[in-house]
Amino acid sequence: MRTQVAIIGAGPSGLLLGALLHKAGIDSVILERKSGEYVLSRIRAGVLEQGAVDMLASVGVDARMNAEGLRHDGFAMGFANRRLRIDLAGLTGKQVTVYGQTEVTRDLMDARKAAGLVTIYEAENVEIHDFDTRNPRVTYEKDGATQELLCDFIAGCDGFHGVCRASVPQGAIRNFEKVYPFGWLGLLADVPPCSHELIYANHERGFALCSMRSKTRSRYYIQCGADEDVNAWSDQRFWDELRRRLDPEAAEAVITGPSLEKSIAPLRSFVAEPLRFGRLFLAGDAAHIVPPTGAKGLNLAASDVHYLGEALREYYRDGSEAGIDAYSARALARIWKAERFSWSLTMLLHRFSNMNAFEQRMQEADFLYIESSRAAQTTIAENYVGLPY
Ligand code: APR
Ligand code: PHB
Repeated sequence: MRTQVAIIGAGPSGLLLGALLHKAGIDSVILERKSGEYVLSRIRAGVLEQGAVDMLASVGVDARMNAEGLRHDGFAMGFANRRLRIDLAGLTGKQVTVYGQTEVTRDLMDARKAAGLVTIYEAENVEIHDFDTRNPRVTYEKDGATQELLCDFIAGCDGFHGVCRASVPQGAIRNFEKVYPFGWLGLLADVPPCSHELIYANHERGFALCSMRSKTRSRYYIQCGADEDVNAWSDQRFWDELRRRLDPEAAEAVITGPSLEKSIAPLRSFVAEPLRFGRLFLAGDAAHIVPPTGAKGLNLAASDVHYLGEALREYYRDGSEAGIDAYSARALARIWKAERFSWSLTMLLHRFSNMNAFEQRMQEADFLYIESSRAAQTTIAENYVGLPY
């Protein structure tokens, strides 16, 4: 089999890149290790920047998002039992859209299928070859038989544990990483949210987040130990702990119900440099990880594939390599800014077990400053709604 761009991974990065390439008349094949159902069973964040929303619209995958997505003009930060609203619309003129990543993935999958584009699910032992030449290849196994895919380029959209970044010679790549000493315990339930906007709360017992998927489905998180066992958390224990960490009004408004899903996710910041190795490009979680505190994971994946899609379009349309030469630097410039924002919100909102009294006062002073300064609130707001591409 032959294609122009072999895309490894059918998460949001791979699917969105495939849609952008299709719109530009460029052929792609996606190879995905898991089944489509498995990909859709993963629960991830749910806040889209306008840039990501616009990209989905540009590829015609916005009907359900427009109908079901919730437009939010602000969010709240809780501390010392108070709540500070960050007025996104007032400070930046922009909004965010609350629409689950699982739904974005489902919409992209459906559109790809409807357009008759090739996605090979349950492709095992994917290996990438010769990406330092003009004739890269990908081999994989499907139903017990080894297959080969010839291509012009390989897009590594295969997430943090994928094969693409791992296939780059060690000396050619530099990794930057910070692992946080805690996790997030998340719970999904069919109950109305306790607030019509998100609340990110810093409490002496640890961080808590009130989020939602719709007006009838809530997503809540609480900071927990990095190696805690999710089975130690009954629904009742979760709800009790959540309420303790919220201001009285929010705690009072929490409506409880049986969990549909409960899981613990570690928090990590990670960036690989560079993002291009000959004819291999890395994008999305294969290239970087952000802690979920600013909901930047999917949004960064969208900006990466925007730059990559443009670069490949320039290559095929104009015969110019300028875009693919610039891809790594352009994507990394935006990635590092989103890393900085996600790291700073994480440091501001969580309790660290090794925090000394001075560091505790610094966190409090940070909040007091943000509360008193429109400039500081604007900085948070312009990062939260998304920096320009
Ligand atoms: N071969 C084929 N597919 C693979 C391989 C492999 N060796 N390794 C991983 N994959 C697939 C995974 O099964 C997954 O479906 O690549 C896909 C990567 O998807 P994501 O992990 O969702 O990463 P990405 O598409 O970059 O999405 C970024 O979505 O995952 C969230 O937190 C992430 O919000 C961020 C955004
Ligand atoms: C979520 O709804 O899952 C969510 C929202 C905002 C975040 C992280 C997760 O910052």
